[in-house]
Amino acid sequence: MEYLFAPMEGITDAVFRRVHHRMFGGVSRYMIPFVSPTEDRRLPPREMRSISPEVNRGVPVVPQILTKRPELFLWLAQELKDMGYTELNLNTGCPSGTVTAKGKGAGMLTSPDGLRAFLDAVFSAAPLPVSIKTRVGFASLDEWPALVDLLAGYPFSGVIIHPRLRSEFYRGDVHMECMSYAREHLRCPLVLSGNLFDIPAIQHYAALGLTEHVMLGRGIVSNPALAREAAGGPPLSPSELSAFHDALYREYASMYPVRIVLGKMREITKYLACSTLATERQRRTMLKAHTEEAYLEAVQVLFSAPLRTYPGYMQASPDHIWP
Ligand SMILES: Cc1cc2nc3c(=O)[nH]c(=O)nc-3n(C[C@H](O)[C@H](O)[C@H](O)COP(=O)(O)O)c2cc1C
Repeated sequence: MEYLFAPMEGITDAVFRRVHHRMFGGVSRYMIPFVSPTEDRRLPPREMRSISPEVNRGVPVVPQILTKRPELFLWLAQELKDMGYTELNLNTGCPSGTVTAKGKGAGMLTSPDGLRAFLDAVFSAAPLPVSIKTRVGFASLDEWPALVDLLAGYPFSGVIIHPRLRSEFYRGDVHMECMSYAREHLRCPLVLSGNLFDIPAIQHYAALGLTEHVMLGRGIVSNPALAREAAGGPPLSPSELSAFHDALYREYASMYPVRIVLGKMREITKYLACSTLATERQRRTMLKAHTEEAYLEAVQVLFSAPLRTYPGYMQASPDHIWP
């Protein structure tokens, strides 16, 4: 079984991927958060900071494309091929209102005919193998069987399934029954992406034998050693957790002003702190730290708390400020 690193827009940027790969390993491929090609067919500096081969050197990455326009998909696919990439992923899962309102991301699931026309055009000319990352429907689970049948008609190199509806965003349980249906009806390699938050969750899922691979998201951002341990390596140690934090901090500090660094690091540390027994109050103190001194002090308190028995992500209750 391979462990893939999920794309997480705003978190798993090129710096994060490089530092993680250098310090932990265990991940066969890191998916780059989506790139959305624009009408003028240019790749702005913001996108290049994420997908240029220079920033990804030495890290096994797969770029992800978000668009509903086949000609823009194919243009970007060729650009990415020219950069040396060998595989692409199509995003039909993004739940954000601004994305779905334009019929992109999970919005593509609302029009099976539109999706079919898009895939016909893409697969008639794709210069590279294409996989898809999808949800199990937009508004109702009743959509899933027809969507699976539609996907079965195309030569995807893999289907990555986040078994939630668009309306469920990232909260609550995942619809595991949808994985069995996909297993029965799709022939290509399948990947589950959803709620594999710690080692017991991964082991329990692996024993079901439903998919070739798994994709780890919030679990591995919270416990960066998750894939390594799942693959038979050593578990996370407390010193590694703070060393990972410090390495990210140093990298960002060499690139950005302190306000940006703190913004990025607070977001990442929200997850890392899930692996520890730090209290809610200690976490809130970190979130409210807006000077370097206050932030570093709060982080020291967080990382001096012991690790949880199974470090990983904890899904918070809806009224909770935690991620
Ligand atoms: C903050 C955040 C950003 C995300 N960005 C992307 C993205 O750019 N592309 C994508 O396909 N999925 C994205 N996802 C979804 C994740 O890749 C993953 O499928 C989802 O979090 C479920 O996996 P998990 O329960 O292991 O976190 C994002 C999720 C979160 C929480």
